[in-house]
Order: sequence, then C-alpha cells, then structure tokens
Amino acid sequence: MLTPGLEFSSNGHLYIEGCDIVALAQKYGTPLYVMNEKLIRNNCRRYTSFIAENFKTGSFPCYASKALSCLEIYRIMNEEKMGVDVVSGGELYTALKADFPAERIFFHGNNKTVDELRMAVEFGVGRIIVDNLTELHLLDKIASEAKSKQKIGLRIKPGIEAHTHDYIRTGQIDSKFGFSIENGEALEAVKEAMSCDNLELCQLHCHIGSQIFDTQPFVDAVKVMLDFFVIIHNETGQWIKELNLGGGLGASYTDADSPLEIEEYLTPVAQILKSTCKELDIPEPEFHIEPGRSIVGEAGTTLYTIGAIKDIKDIRTYISVDGGMADNIRYALYKAEYTVLNASKNSGTIKDNVTIAGKCCESGDLIQEGISLTEPDVGDILAVLTTGAYNYSMASNYNRIPRPAMIMVKDGNSRVVIQRESYADLLNNDI
Ligand SMILES: Cc1ncc(COP(=O)(O)O)c(C=O)c1O
Repeated sequence: MLTPGLEFSSNGHLYIEGCDIVALAQKYGTPLYVMNEKLIRNNCRRYTSFIAENFKTGSFPCYASKALSCLEIYRIMNEEKMGVDVVSGGELYTALKADFPAERIFFHGNNKTVDELRMAVEFGVGRIIVDNLTELHLLDKIASEAKSKQKIGLRIKPGIEAHTHDYIRTGQIDSKFGFSIENGEALEAVKEAMSCDNLELCQLHCHIGSQIFDTQPFVDAVKVMLDFFVIIHNETGQWIKELNLGGGLGASYTDADSPLEIEEYLTPVAQILKSTCKELDIPEPEFHIEPGRSIVGEAGTTLYTIGAIKDIKDIRTYISVDGGMADNIRYALYKAEYTVLNASKNSGTIKDNVTIAGKCCESGDLIQEGISLTEPDVGDILAVLTTGAYNYSMASNYNRIPRPAMIMVKDGNSRVVIQRESYADLLNNDI
C-alpha cells in the first residue's frame, strides 16, 4: 500500500511529492517525520468546500489538533479557513502563538484546569465544550469575573458504539467524557447551562470514536442528537443552534483498511441532518466536525535508518532502527498496524517474518511485527507510512532520546517545520 504522494522511482528509491526519501534522510537525518503539505491542504479543502455547499451558513470543520500540534499546522489550518479544536492550555497556547483567530478555536477536555479555563475566556476562545457540571459552574464563575459571556457547547454521550478499537472508543455510556442522554444527566446539564448568567449554550457535541470506516454510526449519532434537540425544545422552549459531530473518520494504515472518502462520509450525514430536521420540524443547526486523523494521518511518513539486524533462526528477524516508541508509541500502546517499506530499494529478495524494533530499553518497543521487507541492509532507509496523526503529538523523551525533526514537502521542495531536539534541549528544565 502506498499513501497519496508516494511512489517508487526508477532509481529504486521511494519518493514523496517529488522528493527522494533517501536524499531527505541524508539531508535532515533520521528519525524524521515527513509531512505531505499538499495532501493536508487538499484534505482541508475537501472538508471546507463540502461543508460550505451542503450545510447551513456558518458551518465549518475544526481540525482536531491533538492529532498533530505545532505552529505550522495551525498556520496552515488558518490559511485553509478551518477552525481548530484544542484540548489543553499547551495546544491553545501554540494556536494563539501561530496567530490562529481565537473565535475559531473550540476548547475540549474532561478536566480543564482553572488556569486553562481562565486563559480560554481571556483570549476569547469561540466555544468551550463543557464536559461536566463541576466545569460548568467553574466556567460560569470565571466568565463572571472576566465580565464576559462565554459561548459554550456541551459534550454529550449519545450511546452510539462505533466499530473500532476499544481504547479509542468514547461514545458509550461508560466513558470519562461528557453527559449521557440515556440516564438524564445530559438534559439536566442543558437546563443548568441555560440557567448560568455568564454562559451562552450554543452547541451540543458528540464524538463517537476514531478510525471509523462506516457511515452508519455517524448517521445514527445525528439522529440521536437531533431527537435530543427536540426533547430540549419541549422541556425548555429553546432550540440548540449548533451540532458538532466530533471526529472519527478513518485513515488507511495497511491494505486491510478501506476508509471512506471525505465526501462519502459527509453525504449521508448531510442528508440525514436535513431530512430529520424537516421531519421533526427542527430549525437546521449549524454543523461542525473535528477531523484529525483523516486530515493529517496519511500525510505523514516517518523515516528511520536500519542499524542492527538480528536473524534468530526459525523464529524471526529483528531489524533495529534509530527511533521507536519514543517517536511512535502506537504499536506498543495498542498494537496499531502500519505499512513499512524499504525506501532505499524497490526490488530484491523479500525477507519475511521481520520485526521492526526501536532503540529504547523496553522489549515492547516495537514498530511492527511479522512484516515482509525488500532486502533490508544496514544503512537502508525505512519508511513507516500514515504516521501523521498521533505520532509526533504522542512522542516522548523516553531514554532521553531527543524528538525527531519534522519537515513539510510540497512540489519537490522540503522545509523544516519542527527542529530536531538537541541533547542540550533535553536539559532545558533540569536544575
Ligand atoms: C472530541 C474529539 N474531537 C475530535 C477528535 C479527533 O478524532 P479523529 O482523529 O479520529 O478524527 C477526537 C479524538 O479523540 C476527539 O476526542
């Protein structure tokens, strides 16, 4: 499987957007995160144009920046007229430092701190998506102190189970996120929010999971949420103005994955929204979504250099690389699958039963197991595909390994957007 923008050239090397990956590895060093800027921008444009054409005026997509947060990604999102979703003071700070307009920022999180809420109110964040009653009352007080009326959403658990990995499933009742419709706490929260003098309830939000390949759970979520809009109207006389369906559209990691196209996913959502509003006589709400993985996932490729190769007869071959769980924790965390290619060679003997091992002091520090690779040799460059989402953003300095650099490639050119950490950087906060 090759992600968009990748192809093998006649010199046997893998190319990305016209750049020779082996040359990129030589120029910038490895491990290296390589992001396909054209693909990111194209994905954003597909979301923004579909939403502008098919949903109520004022609707827009917000990029879920937990997938990848750095100054340049917020600049790109701003240029592409996206909103962004942030989940911490750190993500909010980075967005603001990139001059991202505060009114197009949605602030999430199940335990935002007092300081984070104050910061969000002070900078005029567009929506704060409130997760629980403690936060609701705290935010009302903070907004009152700041003499402002803060626009909010409420995070709702619609009780929809998306067919995905347990660890990244969040829509069900037993979740740390949000208010459940089923047990009445969501309605109680709506009424409570409407009674807060310093808050304006604009939005109901749900996020039913991640890496979803099917339209049905999204369609069901729209129906459940709109039914709830009617219940709220019957109880309070007020219509909620905005529906936010969260993120969740899948990306392709291996040949086994067949994610929906952005338009394939949004078409039935737009249809069900319109038809249900008509049927139930609901004023059509503004529509928001928060795609993360489907914008940056396939745009990312991580490059490593092969170091030690250990053939354990009749068992497996370990190929060790110069990165690992510190730059990509997802296999160690939940056995996430990836496509791994030898970017230095397109032909030769295929080696089977290969395990790609990281350099950290953990047996579980693996990038992938049981894969086949074209004639791996010491010094070859390995490319791990679809690493744009939840890789750099989950990276750590475990074993005091500096975080890799990140570059953007576009039309045969490359530029650094995150510098490689130095050993000196590792001591920044040591006293
Ligand atoms: C509230 C919310 N919005 C958006 C997202 C982004 O999801 P994805 O990257 O699957 O599109 C998440 C992911 O956890 C989320 O929790």
